[in-house]
Amino acid sequence: MKLKELESCLQQVDGFEEPKILLEQYPTSPHIAGCMLYTIHNTYDDIKNKLVADLGCGCGVLSIGAAVLDAGLCVGFDIDSGALDIFKQNVEEFELSNIDTVQTDVSTIGSSFAKKFDTVIMNPPFGTKHNQGIDMQFLKTAISMARGAVYSLHKTTTRDHISKKASDWKVKMEVIAELRYDLPASYKFHKKKSVDIQVDFIRFTPK
Ligand SMILES: C[S@@+](CC[C@H](N)C(=O)[O-])C[C@H]1O[C@@H](n2cnc3c(N)ncnc32)[C@H](O)[C@@H]1O
Repeated sequence: MKLKELESCLQQVDGFEEPKILLEQYPTSPHIAGCMLYTIHNTYDDIKNKLVADLGCGCGVLSIGAAVLDAGLCVGFDIDSGALDIFKQNVEEFELSNIDTVQTDVSTIGSSFAKKFDTVIMNPPFGTKHNQGIDMQFLKTAISMARGAVYSLHKTTTRDHISKKASDWKVKMEVIAELRYDLPASYKFHKKKSVDIQVDFIRFTPK
């Protein structure tokens, strides 16, 4: 599938109806989600026939993209039942059968799913809403769940910190791309409608 086709397919995914600010419910745009998934699939072959987890899946744009690209199964994890209801409606509309959901707090997963997935993909909360450190909790959990690679988005300002943690956790870290992420203003106490932040698209693999 071409990148343009994937992007236009992801434009059909419905987003949050009433986003919960404290859960950082802003969706990954079809453009960014498309570029991430296209790279994971075409450059690294980490989606087709793989068991994929999507942490903080929200309404499912990354999970649905992975399923459309022929993941063996993609399982979306999110704490919020409202987001998962929209996720399930999206799955019905796309008529996908290789997709499932688990409602849970990702920060409490611990080692329950240790090495159970081939690939983990995520756009985690950045930890800017009285939830400082949640991004690193998501990352630690993702690394424990994956037999293969973890693909994640992180604020570029946290790159040095993440690099130190990656070294502690004995994983290799590669910044695949630097992106401008259009964050709704309510997440940054900003007067403008939205504000661009610099975000790294990172691949983590076992050393
Ligand atoms: C930035 S949004 C990304 C949503 C979706 N993955 C996407 O790409 O559009 C972060 C998601 O993490 C979820 N979330 C926040 N805290 C969580 C937690 N502790 N456990 C599980 N999910 C959480 C939110 O409900 C939200 O859906």
